[in-house]
Amino acid sequence: MKRLLISLVGVLPALVTQAAGSGDLPLTAADHRIVISVTQDERNQMLFEMREFLHHLFNIHNALANGDMAAVARSAAPMGEGILHRLPASVRNDSPVAFQEMSHGMHEIFRLIAKDAQVKGDIKYTVGQLAEAMTYCAGCHDTYRLQIQQRKRD
Ligand code: HEC
Repeated sequence: MKRLLISLVGVLPALVTQAAGSGDLPLTAADHRIVISVTQDERNQMLFEMREFLHHLFNIHNALANGDMAAVARSAAPMGEGILHRLPASVRNDSPVAFQEMSHGMHEIFRLIAKDAQVKGDIKYTVGQLAEAMTYCAGCHDTYRLQIQQRKRD
């Protein structure tokens, strides 16, 4: 197994380089997302919070798989606080209205997920709510990107 891993580590970068160089990988994705200007520190903070979201999602799914609705509620609760609360005030106040609305939408659905997990205790229902919640993740990611600007406001 170890030998296989070592040989894969050696081969993969070569394959990738070859594919990119030979034109086998058409790079067609254009980036039309709206820019949100942030400083390096603000970006670090925001991406840290985003990665936390993924951890919470993992915990929620893990709890669902175990049928532990109390744990679902516990794991969903921090997501219900909303992104805006977790962002630096500078980004929060300057962000586009639609960005703030998506943040609020996500905040609301995770609050409901936490509440309904306890009140209804229905795994299928919670999974449906999670699917709805993830439309906010995807919708915002489709629409916005961060761009570092050294001196944001003079
Ligand atoms: C209101 C907008 C918004 C919502 C909602 C949102 N994100 Fe993000 N997220 C962003 C932006 C903006 C970026 C940076 C994208 C870029 O600059 O290319 C990002 C980046 C990320 C990253 C990359 C982190 C890194 O280190 O590069 C992850 C992971 C992520 N989000 C997870 C999530 C998850 C999971 C959800 C939903 C539970 C979510 N996000 C909801 C705006 C949002």
